[in-house]
Amino acid sequence: MTTLDDIVSLCKRRGFIYPGSEIYGGITGFWDYGPMGSQLKRNLKNLWWKHMIQLRDDVVGLDAAIIMNPAVWEASGHTTAFADPLVECKVCHKRFRADKEEEMIAHTKEHKEAVVWTEPKQFNLLTEAYLGVTEPKQKVYLRGEITQGVFVNFQNVVDSTRVKIPFGIAQIGKAFRNEITPGNFTFRSREFEQMEMEFFIKPDEESGKKWFDYWKEQRMTWYRSLGFKAESLRFRDHRDDERAFYAKFATDIEYQAPFGWSEFEGIHHRGDWDLGKHKLTYKDPVTGEIFTPWVIETSGGVDRATLFLLLEAYTKEEKRIVLKLHPSLAPTTVAVFPLMPNKQELVEKAKNVYHQLKTDYSTAWDDRGNIGKRYLAQDETGTPFCVTIDFTTLEDDTVTIRFRDTASQERVPLQKLTEIIKTYMKEA
Ligand code: GAP
Repeated sequence: MTTLDDIVSLCKRRGFIYPGSEIYGGITGFWDYGPMGSQLKRNLKNLWWKHMIQLRDDVVGLDAAIIMNPAVWEASGHTTAFADPLVECKVCHKRFRADKEEEMIAHTKEHKEAVVWTEPKQFNLLTEAYLGVTEPKQKVYLRGEITQGVFVNFQNVVDSTRVKIPFGIAQIGKAFRNEITPGNFTFRSREFEQMEMEFFIKPDEESGKKWFDYWKEQRMTWYRSLGFKAESLRFRDHRDDERAFYAKFATDIEYQAPFGWSEFEGIHHRGDWDLGKHKLTYKDPVTGEIFTPWVIETSGGVDRATLFLLLEAYTKEEKRIVLKLHPSLAPTTVAVFPLMPNKQELVEKAKNVYHQLKTDYSTAWDDRGNIGKRYLAQDETGTPFCVTIDFTTLEDDTVTIRFRDTASQERVPLQKLTEIIKTYMKEA
């Protein structure tokens, strides 16, 4: 079983994720993505955008500002209801979420004496910021969910495009939460990215059920297509006492993480909560009927999905560690090696191949150490193809392509290389 420590160590070693502001001692709940991690996250977001917007006729994109008029958060209910129950250990004054029983139980084991807890207090998660040059500065909030940016632009999108209900507005962006207990690596951070879609439907129970079930199935199928095994994922319906204040009902997609089944996407039936609070309505262009649409939301976490993809892909074999990432997600698609770095003619030929592949694929160059070590380094970052240029290449223009998952090698004509990679990527 892969542990969280395996992933934390790989992420640091291979440039996926580093602790935020590390040279100043770090800052709890913030993480920086390195060369490999930023590319992996970008690939994930691009696939999501393609699947949710580009390939559909009924969803459009948006990129709203992080900071909005604070009136948005008053109206949406976040300034009062966006809160977690906080308790404090009276022995050491550490604070915990009262709804995370396992974390409280683990903490009691850290003390010899019996732990006494304070009464739970509601702790608001919105992060405050201050704007302006003269005092008093204007208090604003860093968005606690990217969602409200969609609702405040609902009318703009309806007026400026040809969308008709049912339709969705999707976006990807940063959100901020003043989490009481950030932890489990990037799982619970204070700054994170969300990929969300708000789908506007007719306000009736039948449409609500139909679209809720539809999006549940769509989202699970998509995650499976990225390489999650069926048994690694499950749905979990929210109990009445844990549902967010805006939701009529909600289901999470959970991953079987080393720290237990954990949510990384929520499908929420938000009813007319948000458009109602913002006093927004929709006029049916055919019947002229005016109503407040209901909303089915799919809300995924980019950082959590990235962490779970790493956990799922991490494979320890006898002689190597391999990240069996889906080829479309792998930070590097193909690595090019000259067999020997000190043979000018090999390096020149390999550089040509490298520059040629770079126009189509994320391509890495490596001429350090021996070929075996270069393969191992690429396996650890999940590179699906390695191409070696050797002396035979100079004679007949063929190269060796080595496949990550099987470690098998094939000799192929250089001319066909791009096509072979393209076919393999399509079939993966
Ligand atoms: N708009 C609805 C919404 O924000 P949520 O269930 O609070 O719903 C959606 O969050 C997703 O955002 C979660 O499933 C998770 O993937 C991600 N997320 C939420 N809080 C997070 C945190 N503190 N750190 C990392 N990701 C988080």
